[in-house]
Amino acid sequence: MIANLFKLGILVQPQHNKTPNKFADEIRFFRRWIKNPKATGGIVPTGSALAKSMASFVDPNSTAPVLELGPGTGVITKAILATGLAQSQLTCLEFSEEFIEPLKLLFPEINVVQGDAFNLETSFPSDTTEKFGAVISALPLLNFPIELRQKFITDLLDLMVPNAPIVQFSYGRKSPIPRNDALYSTKAHDWVVKNIPPARVWVYRRTA
Ligand SMILES: C[S@@+](CC[C@H](N)C(=O)[O-])C[C@H]1O[C@@H](n2cnc3c(N)ncnc32)[C@H](O)[C@@H]1O
Repeated sequence: MIANLFKLGILVQPQHNKTPNKFADEIRFFRRWIKNPKATGGIVPTGSALAKSMASFVDPNSTAPVLELGPGTGVITKAILATGLAQSQLTCLEFSEEFIEPLKLLFPEINVVQGDAFNLETSFPSDTTEKFGAVISALPLLNFPIELRQKFITDLLDLMVPNAPIVQFSYGRKSPIPRNDALYSTKAHDWVVKNIPPARVWVYRRTA
């Protein structure tokens, strides 16, 4: 399939300074998108500017663990670790099996968990899981029903220390999670126009 796309000229071999690994990651990501566009969200991984912006909400001096949702090929994972956070403090929850082993090889000390972010209790029972100090999510939330997104944030807040950020990017103009001021604050940050497509970072924190 991919080879045919090259033959037809729909995909073009890189004529730029991308490393072979980066190109291989993009192909792997694109293959996954062909298999499951709804869960994969985009056709290329997040750009480094957006990844850095998401990671800037992680406090590497905190001892609380950090949770990344939907790490894919690990672009945002890399940016999170570049803040100085220890690999052993990071847990990554990924749904797609084919991303799991490459993530473990790339970041051997990270806790990589295969599971469903819309069913958090199965992977992280609230009575035995240490509370997270930040959640960095690249889930394609807009592809899922509003009720599921509401349940998702309510469940997630229960797994977090008070006032910890849930960081989510979105290509849309509106918050990908409906506002609920009684339960959490919603803050939009600047558009990252360097990203393809441009995206915006949203941050949610439990109120009271
Ligand atoms: C838009 S991609 C982001 C990948 C990577 N973090 C990046 O920024 O390039 C969405 C990722 O979320 C994963 N994903 C989708 N639904 C999921 C779910 N219910 N639970 C966990 N991961 C999920 C996909 O497999 C994919 O890796």
